[in-house]
Amino acid sequence: MNAANPIGIFDSGIGGVTILLEIERLLPNEKIIYLSDDKNCPYGTKKRQEIIDLAVKNTKLLIELGAKVIIVACNTATMAAVTTLRKQFDIPIIAIEPAVKPASSASKSGVVGIIATKASIESDHLKTLCELHSLGNTIVTQAGVGLVAFVENDEHESQEAYLLLKKYLDPMIKKGIDHLVLGCTHYPFFRKHIEKIVASSNITIIEPAAAIAKQLKNVLAQNKLTNNCSEDNDILFLSTSDTSLTNNERVKARYEQYKKIKP
Ligand code: DGL
Repeated sequence: MNAANPIGIFDSGIGGVTILLEIERLLPNEKIIYLSDDKNCPYGTKKRQEIIDLAVKNTKLLIELGAKVIIVACNTATMAAVTTLRKQFDIPIIAIEPAVKPASSASKSGVVGIIATKASIESDHLKTLCELHSLGNTIVTQAGVGLVAFVENDEHESQEAYLLLKKYLDPMIKKGIDHLVLGCTHYPFFRKHIEKIVASSNITIIEPAAAIAKQLKNVLAQNKLTNNCSEDNDILFLSTSDTSLTNNERVKARYEQYKKIKP
């Protein structure tokens, strides 16, 4: 494998651009392929085997396109498929998962909240994460059913999205959470709404995108795969709804939009 090869990132849709942004900022010389599996979005309401099959398919495509490392930028895919992916493929696989450990370590109230997709919340993987890393804190979980569609449809700033978020977050706030883990990569798009809802409660919002970029930097260095050429990032945006394998303008535009949400 060559250091000049691209990093392959996938998500069920555009949520993974929240990770892409941190990677672009930390590793400005890397080539990147971002694959949005919007044809099959959302993953969060699908059965485990179906999610595994999609994650394998996305990984195969990215490897065929030359990926030197895979970033699973989808918590739902990690929960269902990371073990299978690591068994089946021989290249480094870095996978996002809800940041239970950092939130638990920092909690003072002893109550931590996780909001994620239905499939993630119901997964054995998340149960194990909580058993291993809750450090005696109470973990309050909530499935964010319906939230991803607002982001995919570019309606994340709508009043309807605000009301649905409030419906999910208010009971968590009442239970005394002092850290809220965003366990779905689409949710940082709702940053403004979430900040408004938790404003009077002194809650820290945790999203692990920057930690994934750091982990990637280390993995590339360990495997001598860091691209040291001086060219700027070259990002290819692909969508499974468009089979052309050329830059997908919609996905690219959503990435530009997210850059304004997180300047
Ligand atoms: N963005 C994904 C995640 O982090 C999942 C969204 C979905 O397809 O339901 O879980």
